[in-house]
Amino acid sequence: MKKFVLIFIVGVIFAWQSFVGSANALSLSEEIRTIPLNESGETITLSNQEALKGSRLFVSNCAQCHIQGKTKTNPNVSLSKEALANALPARDNLVGLMDYIEHPTSYDGEEDLTLLHVNTERPDLWPEIRNYSEDDIKAVAGHILIQAFSDPKWGNLSLIDN
Ligand code: HEC
Repeated sequence: MKKFVLIFIVGVIFAWQSFVGSANALSLSEEIRTIPLNESGETITLSNQEALKGSRLFVSNCAQCHIQGKTKTNPNVSLSKEALANALPARDNLVGLMDYIEHPTSYDGEEDLTLLHVNTERPDLWPEIRNYSEDDIKAVAGHILIQAFSDPKWGNLSLIDN
């Protein structure tokens, strides 16, 4: 009997959490979901579904190295707004960031990093994102931009303790 009560309680908590979780994810304001599209200053508004998909993909495929927008093995090249903006070409917009995921280059844009960083151009080397569609690339890049533009702690080393 006790066991059933426990299972029931756990079930209620679980249902509540997933409800609150999706409610939060779906309540991102339009302003937060509006991100730079390209270097000429145009913007694009992602849907809540795209934002949610992007955060899920980020957790699955990027967070092990980029938790909180930091870059574990190379803290100088974080995913902060400033770091993305100063890369060449700039990566603080959807087109630039999608291009990086398809074909990553060094911070100065000079070297090809397709052998060193996950990307969709070499699915033979990076099977973890082999099945990414264009929409998936857009969603995960969109998630990074939403975070970089709305969370001052994202990728910002000075505000993070660990
Ligand atoms: C195994 C660790 C690892 C994983 C997994 C990883 N990255 Fe990275 N990422 C790095 C490292 C290291 C760099 C710095 C590369 C350099 O030296 O320029 C980097 C750099 C970047 C940059 C450039 C940042 C800037 O300021 O210019 C972007 C964008 C990026 N990663 C996106 C992603 C995305 C999106 C994913 C998931 C699909 C991902 N990364 C998965 C390690 C990783």
